[in-house]
Amino acid sequence: MFASLIVIILGLCHCIKDSNQTFQGFPQLSGPFEALESDTVKYKCKPPALLTNESILLQLVQRDQILDEKTSVSGETGNFTLKVKPSHEGYLKCVARVRNDSNIEHSVSSAQYLKVFDATEVFEGAMTNLLCSHNDATNVSYKWYLNGQLIPMSPSAKELSRQSTTSKDNGSYVCVATNRFNKKEYRTNSSEVIIRIKVRVSKPDIYFTVIKEDAHNYSAMVTCQSTYGTPYITFSLYNEEKLFANKTGEDRNVTFKVSVILGRNMGWFHCQASNGDRIVHSESLALRVVPVSGHVTVRFDSHLGKNYAVDSVTLFCEAENGTHPRYQWFLNNTLLDNKGRFYSVENQPPEQSLLLLSVGRSSVGTYHCNVSDSFDNTTAIGSKKLYLDEKVWNRLPDALVATVFACFTVLILLVSICCWVGVLFRRRRYGKTSLMGLEMQRTVAAYEGVLDVSQYVEDADEMTPPSGEEFDQASEASLDEWPDISAEKSFHGEPAEFP
Ligand SMILES: *[C@@H]1O[C@H](CO)[C@@H](O)[C@H](O)[C@H]1NC(C)=O
Ligand SMILES: *[C@@H]1O[C@H](CO)[C@@H](O)[C@H](O)[C@H]1NC(C)=O
Ligand SMILES: *[C@@H]1O[C@H](CO)[C@@H](O)[C@H](O)[C@H]1NC(C)=O
Ligand SMILES: *[C@@H]1O[C@H](CO)[C@@H](O)[C@H](O)[C@H]1NC(C)=O
Ligand SMILES: *[C@@H]1O[C@H](CO)[C@@H](O)[C@H](O)[C@H]1NC(C)=O
Ligand SMILES: *[C@@H]1O[C@H](CO)[C@@H](O)[C@H](O)[C@H]1NC(C)=O
Ligand SMILES: *[C@@H]1O[C@H](CO)[C@@H](O)[C@H](O)[C@H]1NC(C)=O
Ligand SMILES: *[C@@H]1O[C@H](CO)[C@@H](O)[C@H](O)[C@H]1NC(C)=O
Repeated sequence: MFASLIVIILGLCHCIKDSNQTFQGFPQLSGPFEALESDTVKYKCKPPALLTNESILLQLVQRDQILDEKTSVSGETGNFTLKVKPSHEGYLKCVARVRNDSNIEHSVSSAQYLKVFDATEVFEGAMTNLLCSHNDATNVSYKWYLNGQLIPMSPSAKELSRQSTTSKDNGSYVCVATNRFNKKEYRTNSSEVIIRIKVRVSKPDIYFTVIKEDAHNYSAMVTCQSTYGTPYITFSLYNEEKLFANKTGEDRNVTFKVSVILGRNMGWFHCQASNGDRIVHSESLALRVVPVSGHVTVRFDSHLGKNYAVDSVTLFCEAENGTHPRYQWFLNNTLLDNKGRFYSVENQPPEQSLLLLSVGRSSVGTYHCNVSDSFDNTTAIGSKKLYLDEKVWNRLPDALVATVFACFTVLILLVSICCWVGVLFRRRRYGKTSLMGLEMQRTVAAYEGVLDVSQYVEDADEMTPPSGEEFDQASEASLDEWPDISAEKSFHGEPAEFP
């Protein structure tokens, strides 16, 4: 009884282990059967089912060499990438293994053959000539194929030439020679020639970011980046004229690590890039990292909307020193993200950061800004706090107020000066008139009793003596006008100041 129980338990254990821990079937490999040398190709491997969800290691294998490997956690397909070399021609397999259990038998996919073609690389714009070399037989006609498509050409064209290749000329070329002999046609295909049009690498850009390695060590991650160019591209980093390092890769960007001392000029750096043809240079970049220091100031500008009311406010934050500042804005001590309902942050590093506010009830509060080094956020320096509400942002800017005030003062001064000048000028004129008036008075006094004649005599000074008739008329006219004139003169002649 006891013995039979043990047997049953052992049997059960064996059952569980067996059914749970073997692959159910084989991995399935899929991908291209042909590839060009130095192309990047992708293969997929679907792992076989496993009853437990343990992670599966998938490997792309060729002649016992692991070309790539991926981990599949819950049965998902593994994606391999392969940079094709001539040696990759041959059978590829996918092997599935349970990661941490070497007791479990691995499972292998069926093999798939990869044929590798070598290609003739030609730079865009270069001249190419392909010659269909059959033999010197006469009566031979030729046909040219690019990627299986007939190229329209004269049947006598033994040579295919391109003055300036473009990306359209990329592909596999075959020529077929047809020879008529004794009323029979003999056709011969050439071998396939693969032309790969390469794009020259473009002038690289250079930039760097800073990282803090430990309490005392800082590094600049200098990136050289081109926007186009066919890989492989070799990037070299130069410090002044000295080669610092070079890297060759598939990417159009590489990063070099250069250790820096804060505050010190580490010299001028530039990148060079080449993918087989000419070498292109980047601009030079001064490698200098100055930590944030000094005062952090915040100021603001109000902007008028359509109806001449303030509708938005821009806050500016600036640190006195620092080549790699990171700005942070706070409202009532709460960090503001890059964009919110009523604000947006616009960083213009390293100079300043702007906080654009649309004014309203939610933008009322106390603002401040913190500036730290982008590579070390323990160095933050805070600005003074700035309280903003309707009263503050509607207040005219001091500069404007000062300008308006100055203009106003100048205007008042000008008006005053004008008045004074006017008064003085008039006074002088009045003075003259007064003297005249006094004389007149005297004259009038002297001719008292013969008023009509006196008036005439005065006028007559500047006149030729009139004839008798005229005299009478003038006299009459004078008589008519006299009371007015005398009134006027007496008025002018008796200013308060001249008694
Ligand atoms: C295995 O997968 C199933 C469903 O996918 C999940 O419910 C279970 O928790 C997993 N077990 C382990 C050990 O991860
Ligand atoms: C398997 O091994 C890897 C490292 O080799 C480990 O990180 C992982 O936790 C292991 N998983 C299990 C289930 O033991
Ligand atoms: C020759 O090339 C033509 C066109 O590409 C193709 O149809 C034919 O099968 C080829 N013949 C041989 C013998 O390769
Ligand atoms: C920089 O760090 C390395 C180790 O990472 C250390 O050996 C070296 O002393 C450090 N240099 C300075 C100046 O602290
Ligand atoms: C940089 O590349 C050149 C060839 O382009 C090579 O001769 C040299 O050894 C490389 N230098 C370094 C430091 O990798
Ligand atoms: C560098 O190149 C890789 C691959 O082409 C790309 O994923 C990455 O975003 C690039 N890095 C930068 C900073 O552009
Ligand atoms: C910020 O604080 C002020 C009082 O100091 C308050 O009136 C305002 O509503 C607060 N703003 C926000 C967005 O919390
Ligand atoms: C500083 O940066 C580290 C890592 O990037 C982060 O964990 C930490 O919270 C940051 N500290 C501050 C004050 O922002």
